[in-house]
Amino acid sequence: MDIEKIRKDFPILSRKIKGNDLIYFDNAATSQTPIQVINKISEYYSKYNSNIHRGVHFLSQEATSEYELVREKIKNHFNIAKKKEVIFTSGTTHGINLIASGYSNILQKGDEIIVSNLEHHSNIVPLQMLAEKTSSILKVIPMNLSGDLDLKAYKKLLNNKTKLVFVNHVSNSLGTINPIKEIIKEAHIHDAKVLIDGAQSAPHFKTDLIDLNADFYVTSAHKLCGPTGIGFLYGKEVLLNELPPYQGGGEMISEVTFEKTSYADLPHKFEAGTPNISGVIAFGAALDYLNGIGLKEIENYENELLKYATRKLKEVKGLRIFGEAKNKISVISFNIESIHPYDLGSILDKMGIAVRTGQHCAQPVMDFYQIPGTVRVSFSFYNTKKEIDFLILAINKAIKMLS
Ligand code: ALA
Repeated sequence: MDIEKIRKDFPILSRKIKGNDLIYFDNAATSQTPIQVINKISEYYSKYNSNIHRGVHFLSQEATSEYELVREKIKNHFNIAKKKEVIFTSGTTHGINLIASGYSNILQKGDEIIVSNLEHHSNIVPLQMLAEKTSSILKVIPMNLSGDLDLKAYKKLLNNKTKLVFVNHVSNSLGTINPIKEIIKEAHIHDAKVLIDGAQSAPHFKTDLIDLNADFYVTSAHKLCGPTGIGFLYGKEVLLNELPPYQGGGEMISEVTFEKTSYADLPHKFEAGTPNISGVIAFGAALDYLNGIGLKEIENYENELLKYATRKLKEVKGLRIFGEAKNKISVISFNIESIHPYDLGSILDKMGIAVRTGQHCAQPVMDFYQIPGTVRVSFSFYNTKKEIDFLILAINKAIKMLS
């Protein structure tokens, strides 16, 4: 991988922040956008901006075929059996809510739902709402100090009342890669359906949904060098057909009369209204961009960055890393003795370094460690060891200033 050449594709990386070169280490929150993706958004608005699936005219047909081509690209990239199993959403949160809301028509009093201690709030709150609506019971897979899930405890939680298991592929706060193939296999023994939140895994390594045998999978384009406000939901055809539509509106119907409305087939049943057309088309360009570099190359390089940064950070006096799972992606959460994460984050910002501080929308993880939050650095394939060296210098400087 030619990192210097890759960095030139990202206009934002040449920005100065408060007089310093930008060092962007907040990739788990949102990745940066290469010029190829920015140009694709502009191409849509300057050449074929129009509504899709409903125009006889040339522009509409051109936009429709660009849009549907991305469904095909997603099917191939994530190894999905059928194109109609790909539903465009506004992102991971939308996908999770769509499934949780659909199951409020299926779950019954006393049914059980399993979630994990490592989840983002977006995977906890919709399930709490579902449990409340259906009087079902929410159970939690515990975690241990290294930031791994306790699989033995998970197996004990499963029984013939378990209907759903929602778990992330990778923890956004600690970077742990969860053994989801095993989690899915165990759930299926009890005929429970599994939703995988792929928001933090899809950017870092290849996902094969046929091999994983996930029932549902959700992710967002903005973690994958694409635009914000767009993502997709995968669901097995037979399961999606069992769920009611999430929203009513145009394009999701087959026939409408005041007496009765029948719904369109997949995927349109779940895509009411005019979608984020430019977002979908740019999402396709982002997948092309990542595949142009190669997911395996990205994974190897980011692993190198993770190992290098972990070693360097551990040399900093008083620094504690939270989450040291054997399998993790390039995310490191840490604190420095007697320094509040927000204070450290603010000083790093003054030196042009963008990190995330706080609970990372994962309060149960912070509660487990009994901390108010962490400083989180998350690396992407366009980051460098030189930037990590600068981070270490900046942290040592901040410690001097704050102590
Ligand atoms: N879920 C995103 C993060 O982890 C926003 O920062």
